[in-house]
Amino acid sequence: MEQSDQHDKYYGGHMYCIKKITDDLTWVGANDRRLAMFEGVYSVPYGVSYNSYLLCDEKNVLFDTVDKAVQQRFLENLAKALGNRKLDYLIVQHMEPDHSAAIQEILLLYPNVKIICNEKTLAMIKQFYDFDIDSRVQIVKENDTLNTGKHTLHFVMAPMVHWPEVMVTYDSTDKILFSADGFGCFGALNGALFADEVDFNRDYMDEARRYYTNIVGKYGTQVEALLNKASSLKIEMICPLHGFVWRKNLKDIISKYVLWSSYTPEEHGVMIAYASVYGNTENAAEILATQLREKGIKTQMFDVSVTPASEIVSAAFRWSHLVFASTTYNAGIFVTMEALIFDLAAHNIQNRIVAVIENGSWAATSGDLIREHLAKCKNIKILEKTISIRSGIKATQVSEIYSMANEIIATFPSSTMPIKKESAPTQSNIVQQETMFKLSYGLFVLTARDGDKDNGCIINTVTQITASPLRISIAVNKANFTCNMILKTKEFNISILTESATFDIFERFGFHSGRDTDKFKGCTYNDRAANNIRYVPEHTNAMISAKVSESIDYGTHMLFIADITQAFMISKEPSVTYQYYFDHIKPKPQPAKEGKKGFVCKICGYVYEGDKLPGDYICPLCKHGAVDFEKI
Ligand code: FEO
Repeated sequence: MEQSDQHDKYYGGHMYCIKKITDDLTWVGANDRRLAMFEGVYSVPYGVSYNSYLLCDEKNVLFDTVDKAVQQRFLENLAKALGNRKLDYLIVQHMEPDHSAAIQEILLLYPNVKIICNEKTLAMIKQFYDFDIDSRVQIVKENDTLNTGKHTLHFVMAPMVHWPEVMVTYDSTDKILFSADGFGCFGALNGALFADEVDFNRDYMDEARRYYTNIVGKYGTQVEALLNKASSLKIEMICPLHGFVWRKNLKDIISKYVLWSSYTPEEHGVMIAYASVYGNTENAAEILATQLREKGIKTQMFDVSVTPASEIVSAAFRWSHLVFASTTYNAGIFVTMEALIFDLAAHNIQNRIVAVIENGSWAATSGDLIREHLAKCKNIKILEKTISIRSGIKATQVSEIYSMANEIIATFPSSTMPIKKESAPTQSNIVQQETMFKLSYGLFVLTARDGDKDNGCIINTVTQITASPLRISIAVNKANFTCNMILKTKEFNISILTESATFDIFERFGFHSGRDTDKFKGCTYNDRAANNIRYVPEHTNAMISAKVSESIDYGTHMLFIADITQAFMISKEPSVTYQYYFDHIKPKPQPAKEGKKGFVCKICGYVYEGDKLPGDYICPLCKHGAVDFEKI
């Protein structure tokens, strides 16, 4: 018997809800919007998804199961996605019961299925369940692989992301990382599956941060270890066990993980958490926040008795500065504030600047106790003076709060401070280089051909000059080989890059010279326009061919005026802007390792090590000058 009759019962039903991810991969998970508290402690007001994935190949593989609460829907989904295929393997990446609850049912429904897991997982299966497992298990360890026909799956151990047995799986055929709890997010999927189907930054990033910080925030070192392993893999899609699948702009979430796992604040600003019984401590917190805001500092405030701790822990990972204001209660810290301080310490909060306000109508102790607990955390700098309120704020104490605001502001790097209108330079001859970054540009692949030599480079300077005739201008750095070719042949193509463009396109065309490399080597396309010059048909939305009518030498750059000879649409994807490239495509510079000195290129993240950056230094990666470097 390959599959039990029960499978047929599920298969025949109409209660399924499955989503195709690729030709071979299907989401068979389920959502839960009834759960009040995830893991009994984290509110999930927008629900939660339990993701399970079915890979159909010569051998069919299921990645994890789901929580008991949604098991019925999951089994229906799985049966539908399998159809008449048999289930060969269940890979158990994580044993927490929200992903493992249905293992026994899978074994009953699919008697020939083999469970693939590591030794630690096997021990946990035996701890949680009583069914026979030894005869059904295949143990894997780091770097073991499983070939399913077309696909090769690689197993990568990820201990403590979030439990010790966790492993992730990399499908090297489709370049998909099955990331277990990593890159997960609270919130039901609401009909979508991919992060790019929703406004993730606006609607889900807070929930992704709350998920990360509360579930794996304590294990930053282990998450960094996984990120390091993942950095050697070419990943085009991430399939986590909760939340959305990432198939575009993976850097958006990976760059957040780099910050979160290293306990680096995402933003400069002040989180103020207060515990106030009759509003007096709250009043002090409000005065402080108002003063900070007046100086242009971002603030976020929480009443710890009202806001669930998971939201405040999450905010503490976001902001650079934390203020705790608490009344004294039972000769200690107010109960909800005490819970928060313990929670933050348990989640390993570090690298923050902290200020403390206490209140006590007779023996105020909360300030010292907060200091004592936070002093155990790594790299927490607590401002020396605690403001100590006796019942209510008096006029004389307002100045103390103002001083605390100033002391906090003094610790902000000047580059993060808002620019005051009155500080705008009045000299008529001042030229601030960075104003050039405020101009909006697109990004394009400029291609040319000279004899048998095809070449291309990235430019951001294509402008339409006239509509009749259709005429454009481009400015090209004279150091670019493509510029020489256009000077000689008077012809070029422009491929307009879209938001789906990946960093490798910029590396391919931007970071080395066509004089000594073939920039098209390894490309899967070989499309040429009518002028026989190559263009880029992927991650672009239009192609323009042009013939040069005039070339003007502007020192470092040639300005070409050209008439359009051919132009056609390739896709409906939006064009990428320079700003979008910086925000979503360009890898974020890694946080500097402790003690590392030097300058980082703001364009590509290259690090120049040394005390002094030569004025004429050119970035070896992206060829931008010293002006685009900033001190680490
Ligand atoms: Fe969703 Fe650690 O499990």
